[in-house]
Amino acid sequence: MKPHYWAIVPAAGVGKRMGGAIPKQYLEVAGKTVLQHTLERLLSVERLTGIRVALGAEDGYWPDLPCARHPRIQTAPGGQERADSVYSALLSLEDCARPDDWILVHDAARLCLTRGDVLKLIETLSDDPVGGILALPVTDTLKAVDDAGLITGTPDRSLIWRALTPQMFRYGLLRKALADAAEQGKLVTDEASALELAGYQPRIVEGRPDNIKITRPEDLPLAAFYLERQCYE
Ligand code: CTP
Ligand code: MG
Repeated sequence: MKPHYWAIVPAAGVGKRMGGAIPKQYLEVAGKTVLQHTLERLLSVERLTGIRVALGAEDGYWPDLPCARHPRIQTAPGGQERADSVYSALLSLEDCARPDDWILVHDAARLCLTRGDVLKLIETLSDDPVGGILALPVTDTLKAVDDAGLITGTPDRSLIWRALTPQMFRYGLLRKALADAAEQGKLVTDEASALELAGYQPRIVEGRPDNIKITRPEDLPLAAFYLERQCYE
């Protein structure tokens, strides 16, 4: 049987770096909330059988989202850290996902994701034994520094990439890697780190530079600019 594809969207963060009363996934950009944009982008990929959104316990905004009752979308309780939210969403798939199914984990805060990048990730990795992530080569010269702020070296830029999402791994492998990382008390900020910890080497797939993550207030107008430009592509 061919594997199915599922998306998991961690959306249970509080947005400390953004500040403000409303969590950043519910801020409005170009006429819709960040999370609505993100989910619409994922819904446009027919290949995704279903989407699980991990929500915070105090989240009172979700029911008002236009796609809250979409038949391909279901929710799961979020956790303390991003990895806990992803793990909770993985557990909620237990009755429908098989170990070989593919899971695409995508940050709620990356609202400019294109359908093309999702398809590129899926097509590049579908025969891969491990899986991988969308990523970007760095363009600046890099500097290693010490505690005193003094430069200790200039790492080779061609060997460093910035990790984006979606990150795509098999259900069984990802679930075990996240469980093992949690058991070892290791804080993993993306899925690839959990796989790396387990000894695997996830693959890099070059993504688009407009796949930004809303983190600080200045990211909002930038996202609005990218969304508007994408409309005309
Ligand atoms: N996230 C989550 N559960 C958590 C923490 C984060 O589902 N316990 C989600 C966020 O909602 C976000 C994604 O993971 O969509 C990426 O995390 P990040 O950008 O760090 O968002 P926040 O943790 O909300 O922001 P901050 O770190 O500034 O508090
Ligand atoms: Mg965070």
